[in-house]
Amino acid sequence: MSLFPVYPLYDITITKALGSTVWDDKGQAYLDMYGGHAVISIGHTHPHWVKRIEDQLHQIAFYSNSVHIALQQQLADKLCQISGKKDYQLFLCNSGAEANENALKLASFHTGRKKIVAFTGSFHGRTSLAVAATDNPSIVAPVNETSNIDFLPFNDEAALLAYFEKSGDQVAAVITEGIQGVGGSELRQIIFCN
Ligand SMILES: Cc1ncc(COP(=O)(O)O)c(C=O)c1O
Repeated sequence: MSLFPVYPLYDITITKALGSTVWDDKGQAYLDMYGGHAVISIGHTHPHWVKRIEDQLHQIAFYSNSVHIALQQQLADKLCQISGKKDYQLFLCNSGAEANENALKLASFHTGRKKIVAFTGSFHGRTSLAVAATDNPSIVAPVNETSNIDFLPFNDEAALLAYFEKSGDQVAAVITEGIQGVGGSELRQIIFCN
């Protein structure tokens, strides 16, 4: 069986990492300025992170959200302490697409409205509503097509104001990607080390 070709791949196989260095299968070291999609921004294989994951795996790896999971509340408490957002609730999910999808859905439930404003050139993920709000027809399947998303030109305040003058009372949410990564601004670099 071959792997489904979701993305075009760089011809490199990373097999080891430490801090901001990664090594390929031939032992070549690279300075990683990409951070695995900015996901591992604490640095690779950080000892504290490795220990917490190891300890947890020895206790229990998975259980359903239908029971109390003390770690989730501990995380909510810590985020509250760091951010000062006492009145906020924490919604835990597995990916950026899922976070965007559910944020839009909650906004629609809350307002009772259907319209989402998104901007040209933006990327919001590959689940159904997130993909519909992403300005790239090549990743929108016919089943994801919807007239509920209105795309406005990015960085055009006048166009946004004009839109709200006319249709603001139908809008559930505005979704924006401040720095358009897939659109071209992201630092996608693994730098070669001698
Ligand atoms: C701006 C932005 N939004 C959403 C996503 C989707 O995140 P995920 O791949 O975790 O679903 C990405 C992923 O690249 C992203 O760059």
